[in-house]
Amino acid sequence: MISTQAVEVENSGRQYLLLNQSRYANQQLLPLTAVVNSRDCLEIGGCDVTKLVEQYGSPLYILDEETLRRSCRQYRDALKRYYPGASQVLYASKAWSCLTVCALAFSEGLGIDVVSGGELYTSLQAGVSADKIYFHGNNKSLSELELAIASGCTIVVDNYLELQTLASITGKSTAPVRIMLRFTPGIECHTHEYIRTGHLDSKFGFDPNQLEQVFAYVLQQPALNCIGIHAHIGSQIFELQPHQDLADVMVEWLRIASSYGLPVKELNVGGGLGIRYTESDDPPSIDDWVKTVAEAIVVACQSQQLPLPKLLCEPGRSLVGPACVTAYTVGSRKEIPTVRTYLAVDGGMSDNPRPITYQSRYRAVVANRMSAPLLETVTIAGKHCESGDILIKDALLPKTEPGDILVVMGTGAYNYSMASNYNRLPRSAAVLVSNGEANLILQRETYQDLIRQDRLPERLLG
Ligand code: LLP
Repeated sequence: MISTQAVEVENSGRQYLLLNQSRYANQQLLPLTAVVNSRDCLEIGGCDVTKLVEQYGSPLYILDEETLRRSCRQYRDALKRYYPGASQVLYASKAWSCLTVCALAFSEGLGIDVVSGGELYTSLQAGVSADKIYFHGNNKSLSELELAIASGCTIVVDNYLELQTLASITGKSTAPVRIMLRFTPGIECHTHEYIRTGHLDSKFGFDPNQLEQVFAYVLQQPALNCIGIHAHIGSQIFELQPHQDLADVMVEWLRIASSYGLPVKELNVGGGLGIRYTESDDPPSIDDWVKTVAEAIVVACQSQQLPLPKLLCEPGRSLVGPACVTAYTVGSRKEIPTVRTYLAVDGGMSDNPRPITYQSRYRAVVANRMSAPLLETVTIAGKHCESGDILIKDALLPKTEPGDILVVMGTGAYNYSMASNYNRLPRSAAVLVSNGEANLILQRETYQDLIRQDRLPERLLG
């Protein structure tokens, strides 16, 4: 049987999209609202993807509002369900920092984790209230710390230099500054080494062997109000055990903090839940992840006879990753007999640097011929002057022609936020789709934008 990209079936009045013959395996690769319309085109958020490309050009990030909102609610509601104490979900905005994504997360009751003055500024401009912003970073500059203090957000302190700097600059301010302390938990997990942060050999956080010295130091600083402890073990993690272990480790820290008389009330367990990029990925659900973490903390607190802290977590990828696809226009083709066929698209490593950076795998569909039979395996190449600029090594697709619209799935996390202007490609546009409406949320850069910061010394002018 020839497999087709999509088959529609009616199930309880809802259209399901079946890809590559495997309904459950592949449906989850596309945003929740994805359907195939009567023109055999992919529709997301009620918008025909091919029409979006006609209107906004390509490459185009297409963000499905419903999928994003739904994952925010899943985290929030699961925490309420499984954790009897107070809780707060923060969106790790490094996954995609822009006004709309921050505003959407905030409107769902989430706070925001920021890691730079730029992300902090973006969140504030998006209308996020400072008491729901947590500022991370292993080397915050003085001006970033000053901005953080002026905004009133909580600062997640990473090292002694930062503690000393804060103590010296907050001495001048009236109210003590709210801080959390980040420790390296010493937990190994199976993910790419670049996105692993929990093992002891990590640039992030205080060494947990110095826990007591750090607590003692903080206690002597009247200008610092230490409200909590933070740790994060890594990203794109499919195992639950490391998160459970982390909960135990952190509650032990909590016990030590309280023995020092440090009024630590918040525990932030970081993010890290992986998502499905291909049919072979099988991450736990948001619900399972939250249940594991919440129950582990409850049990550990009971055994240590500690009151439940306010529980914070800060997912990024699992909130925004599955909510977005990137649409490209297919261009040139190079067939190397018995070797491979390259199919080039009009973007690549500048809009999605993950394959070249982490050997990440993606899947794609041809959005203008969703039920066409899948006839060939091709390598999707970007248009950059770099042989490694390959988006997908082996993509099973229908026969394509120049002008076809190729949609790469699961591109919401760490794509736009890591995008570059390599080869002076203008950064792509992004639209938010919902109920048949599309709103431009990031304008496509122009050639003028590319040279906006350039300065040409006068002596070089002809
Ligand atoms: N909290 C902290 C302190 C983090 O460092 C991170 C991610 C998160 C939360 C969110 O983790 P998530 O839920 O998204 O896994 N650029 C890489 C990912 C780097 C992750 C950095 N930290 C990638 O494209 O895979």
